[in-house]
Amino acid sequence: MDMMTRIASLTAACLTDTWPEAQGLPGADEIRGLLAVPPNPEMGDYAFPCFRLAKALRMAPPKIALALVEGWHHEDVARVEAVNGYLNFFLNRVNFAGETLNAVLAAGDHYGASDEGAGKTVCLDYSSINIAKRFHIGHLSTTMIGHSLRRIYDHLGYRTVSINHLGDWGTQFGKMICAYKKWGSREAVEQQGVNELVRLYVKFHEEAEKEPALEDEGRAWFKKIEDGDEEARSIWSWFKEITLRDTARVYDLLGVSFDSYAGESFYMDKMEPVIDVLREKNLLTVSQGASVVDLSEDDMPPCIILRSDGASLYHTRDLAAAVYRQNTYHFDKCLYVVAYQQDLHFRQLFRVLEKMGYPWAKDCVHVAFGMISYEGQALATRKGHVVYLEDLLEQAQQKALAIIEEKSPELPNKAEVARQVGIGAVVYADLCNNRIKDIDFSWERALNFDGETGPYVQYTHARCCSVLRKAEALSLPEPDMNALTDDEAQALLRLLGRFPDVIREAANRYEPSLITRAVTDIAQAYNKFYYEHRILDDDAAAASARVRLTEATRNVIRTGLYLVGIEAPERM
Ligand code: ARG
Repeated sequence: MDMMTRIASLTAACLTDTWPEAQGLPGADEIRGLLAVPPNPEMGDYAFPCFRLAKALRMAPPKIALALVEGWHHEDVARVEAVNGYLNFFLNRVNFAGETLNAVLAAGDHYGASDEGAGKTVCLDYSSINIAKRFHIGHLSTTMIGHSLRRIYDHLGYRTVSINHLGDWGTQFGKMICAYKKWGSREAVEQQGVNELVRLYVKFHEEAEKEPALEDEGRAWFKKIEDGDEEARSIWSWFKEITLRDTARVYDLLGVSFDSYAGESFYMDKMEPVIDVLREKNLLTVSQGASVVDLSEDDMPPCIILRSDGASLYHTRDLAAAVYRQNTYHFDKCLYVVAYQQDLHFRQLFRVLEKMGYPWAKDCVHVAFGMISYEGQALATRKGHVVYLEDLLEQAQQKALAIIEEKSPELPNKAEVARQVGIGAVVYADLCNNRIKDIDFSWERALNFDGETGPYVQYTHARCCSVLRKAEALSLPEPDMNALTDDEAQALLRLLGRFPDVIREAANRYEPSLITRAVTDIAQAYNKFYYEHRILDDDAAAASARVRLTEATRNVIRTGLYLVGIEAPERM
């Protein structure tokens, strides 16, 4: 049990001991939520505001605080003070240091892991790229938020299923085949990959402006794909292969992988039963020839299920996908990590699932995130305001390499470290803010080694590793925890102690940035501690305690970075 939880349950017990008759007193969980870390150490290590109790006890908060101080006794707390309606706790710093370090060091890479997810399944739909389009920074957030959430849920003991819901269906593929047959070649596609597919698509639209009949040809090719025509199908699946081959390079760099690539086309033969249910439940109405689910009661536009020509839509495939996922994986939660622009799409989708009578509709969550722009400009492929992820990652690595060449030219495996740092900078810049916030990507910010950045946290981790390498050469005695009672060490210990809560909170709020924030705070607290205190001190027992704190810090930073998909080099 971490210290805050313990103080909360002791406070709850103290409350019922002091006022055994009182009704409506908060329990340990609620108290836990009310406990705060005061802004300065004179006010204690933790503070509990008594205001919430005033009504139940019909007493003024300062009086309540005074009465609680009387009843509070425990060896972990050196002193409790009542100040202006607050209960201020001063920890027994020696005990706190010893316990926190034991908890962190005993857990190793599993610190903060739990079995709260045992027997439960979370499906995560993320990245979900579109075939024959290049992977640009607009798809970075979905990829990294999804990847991080997957690791977080794994850490908490859930079974996770990561799904890349490929955009691989629609008339555009007919147009692309048409363009390929007219102006393309197998060699060009093999060599240029997605770039060539994009070129063909653009070419198709240019030509179709002059010769509108092309549109019909494109549609005819798509019809062939739908009808299972062998040639059409084989070109279409080859386009998929080419796209996935190009994308695999980016996924490899980012360390991202998927359990399933079941995309939109996968649901071709799975929509019929869903449409049957909609019919049986009388949910379908015809509007201008199209079959729709009316959502006017929910103040939403109708959800279109079939177009007037009978063709399925994005919604139809998503309905089939949700049902398939529930039937196949029996998920307890299905997360869709998709930009907030698709907010309406998902609200409609979930509402239709609810109307179909699926109780699990409430377990579907749209994990929305903000827009990304590039150095102040909106991403726009046509205007050339677009940054391809592969180029971005390449440049990031080059920049990191240049900095390493300058600052630590003697470092072994420079290219490898440059890869870890370059990618880490980009990923950190993407995951450091609340996900719903719009992001303006800037090279300046992403590759700054100081301040709140990926390289800064990685650098602190490497610094810990370096201290530990030096310490290894010494044979240190049992640690003396009295060496960790200063404010800097205690501030760091508090952050380490609450890290498991941060992981849980990040899962509950689908918010990897909480972990990015926590590792940054830990790095800053460690550096403060490092500058204020000599770690490898002449007093060997004190040195031993500081080394243990360093080791705990390294472990937590490494685990935290792992959970947000960033590597932690040991030297840089
Ligand atoms: N391919 C879509 C896009 O790039 C995202 C798909 C998200 N997942 C889903 N099940 N709709 O916008």
